[in-house]
Amino acid sequence: MAQTKIGVLISGGGTNLQILIDNIKKGYINGSIKLIISNKEDAFGLERAKKADIEAIYINPTLYKNAVDYDRKLIEEFKKRDIELIVLAGYLKILSREFVVEYRDRIINIHPSLIPSFCGKSFYGKRVHKAVLDYGCKITGATVHFVDENTDTGPVILQEPVKVYDDDTVESLQKRVLEAEHNILSKAVKLFCEGKLKIEGRHVKIIEE
Ligand code: GRF
Repeated sequence: MAQTKIGVLISGGGTNLQILIDNIKKGYINGSIKLIISNKEDAFGLERAKKADIEAIYINPTLYKNAVDYDRKLIEEFKKRDIELIVLAGYLKILSREFVVEYRDRIINIHPSLIPSFCGKSFYGKRVHKAVLDYGCKITGATVHFVDENTDTGPVILQEPVKVYDDDTVESLQKRVLEAEHNILSKAVKLFCEGKLKIEGRHVKIIEE
């Protein structure tokens, strides 16, 4: 099967990007990352891309009059490289409707909670884990889902639970959830590249061989 051409959007450290790079190199994922775009100039993920010799560009949002124009630039760059799958790996900008329509059912996002809990516009990064601890939850986790027109509402692909301990801090919980994120993001991208994900309305069926 031909390798899926993957585009990755990042905003920060890029640990999710790194796990994709590593698992592609190991042959676990039948894909090839053709372009990485960051909306933050200082995103460490750009360094990771350089080390892996993958084309990566910083596109400055302030050069565009609004999110729609910014996303048109993203689409232009991804189209140039025939990208077939977009992965949001710690990407903190909300995608425009136009972008979602252009890449419908081909955008995967990783979120650090068990959606539909603790998700949506104000829930990202450490805020998610603080809300979980403040609420007194016993279980949290990570979710990989397809992106639709709203925030964190697309069909769920995979989830992985993570136990919350009484002595957890935001940092200790974030660390364990990040491990779960890495597991299910790799698995979801692998399944996509193998053509094993079937979307039926709100449900994603995994086609076993
Ligand atoms: C992770 O918690 C991810 O779920 C969220 O951004 C955080 C940083 O991810 N979307 P990364 O280390 O930049 O991949």
